[in-house]
Amino acid sequence: MRVGFYQCSPEFGSVEANLDQYTQALEGVQADVVVLPELGNSGYLFLNLEEVKSMAEPADGPTFEFLHTLAKKHNTHLVLGFPERKGDHFYNSSMLVGPEGLMGVYRKVHLFYEEKLYFQPGNLGFPVFEIDGVKVGMLVCFDHLFPEAARVLALQGAQIVLHPSNLVMPTKAQLSTRVRSMENKMFWVMCNRYGTEDRGEKSLTYTGESQIVDPDGMVLANAPAEGDCLQVVEIDPAKASDKKVTSRNDLLEDRRPEVYQL
Ligand code: ACM
Repeated sequence: MRVGFYQCSPEFGSVEANLDQYTQALEGVQADVVVLPELGNSGYLFLNLEEVKSMAEPADGPTFEFLHTLAKKHNTHLVLGFPERKGDHFYNSSMLVGPEGLMGVYRKVHLFYEEKLYFQPGNLGFPVFEIDGVKVGMLVCFDHLFPEAARVLALQGAQIVLHPSNLVMPTKAQLSTRVRSMENKMFWVMCNRYGTEDRGEKSLTYTGESQIVDPDGMVLANAPAEGDCLQVVEIDPAKASDKKVTSRNDLLEDRRPEVYQL
């Protein structure tokens, strides 16, 4: 299976240009799944709820239609973060789109900082989807600091975590995603954006260094701190099905939930 990411620097509010960039970037790509950034159609740094309202869309909205066309063209699957509108609520969501159509939506459970002003925490749990028989789950950015999130995906059989991000704290997720991969024996594709979003009264700089990690926590591919970067690697997802660390130890079977009660 070929998995990849496309690290870039979406421009706030320029949905059409941001999506167009994915068309250019994926020209000629050969991959089974490519992860794109968190809020990768809209940009991240909202200043008020009105901005969220003006850019949020339903999961089967125009951004989905765009990705579906692209997924069909390249016979691939795409993961992209987007501001989701569902009724009167807004979520920081991620969609998985394949040639067949919309395959899954995840709503970010662990909201970061001012996201709490605009978005509801995710209410779909940590769903697992299948790409050609391989089980995958999605997390969004800050979720990486909560070991329960990856563990719940692993307990449901997820072999790969697909992780659109807009990270602002250098080095943390580059470390935590290696640890999460190792402690759950799963692959991890983290796509982080780079660049500065300067919105006048507020500004944020994102840290790049997207990476793909194997079930031993080893980095298979990574990107620089700045710059557009497409990386695709071949993996054997079956490696994520064996949770043994010694002949007497299995990372999931050795859990002792009865002792973890608070
Ligand atoms: C983040 O969760 N976007 C830092």
